[in-house]
Amino acid sequence: MKFAIRSFKMEELDEILRVYESGFREITRNLKKDVENFRNELSQAISSDLPGNLLVAVSGDKIIGFASYVKKDHWHFGPIAVHPSKQRQDVGKSLLEECIRRMKSEGGGRVTLIVQKKNKEALSLYEKMGFRITSHVMEREL
Ligand SMILES: CC(C)(COP(=O)(O)OP(=O)(O)OC[C@H]1O[C@@H](n2cnc3c(N)ncnc32)[C@H](O)[C@@H]1OP(=O)(O)O)[C@@H](O)C(=O)NCCC(=O)NCCS
Repeated sequence: MKFAIRSFKMEELDEILRVYESGFREITRNLKKDVENFRNELSQAISSDLPGNLLVAVSGDKIIGFASYVKKDHWHFGPIAVHPSKQRQDVGKSLLEECIRRMKSEGGGRVTLIVQKKNKEALSLYEKMGFRITSHVMEREL
């Protein structure tokens, strides 16, 4: 499959949210709330002057994946998602590679991300791309 990676365009936000929804459907407990949080995060990120970007993977005229990165005290990567019908075709890897290339060219330093322990696909991708686990977050129901 042929695809290209580039920065998002403002008018693509709803399509990106749809890819988020389909990508995270299987792995999140509260999809509706997560989609809403992501929408708010995006609006904040777009209106702030923090360095960072939202990249999309495009095949034909369809957005098939996206990934974002932002610099606060250091670089933070994510979220990333690829439409389920387009997964396992190097789209996620290419998005992450391009984000890394851009973070390097925008000053480099350290990049962190958060991933659920049960998310084997993402863990495998990140490990392949040189990320190492440095901390554990613990939680319980109250
Ligand atoms: C994680 C995700 C972005 C990977 O995207 P993708 O386009 O399918 O990944 P790629 O085809 O580029 O694969 C790159 C590597 O990821 C790992 N990987 C991807 N899918 C996998 C799967 N189903 N099982 C095991 N490893 C997998 C492999 O290491 C793979 O390398 P390989 O093909 O050489 O084995 C995608 O599975 C996704 O959108 N998941 C839902 C959203 C999500 O979990 N986001 C991350 C939250 S932290």
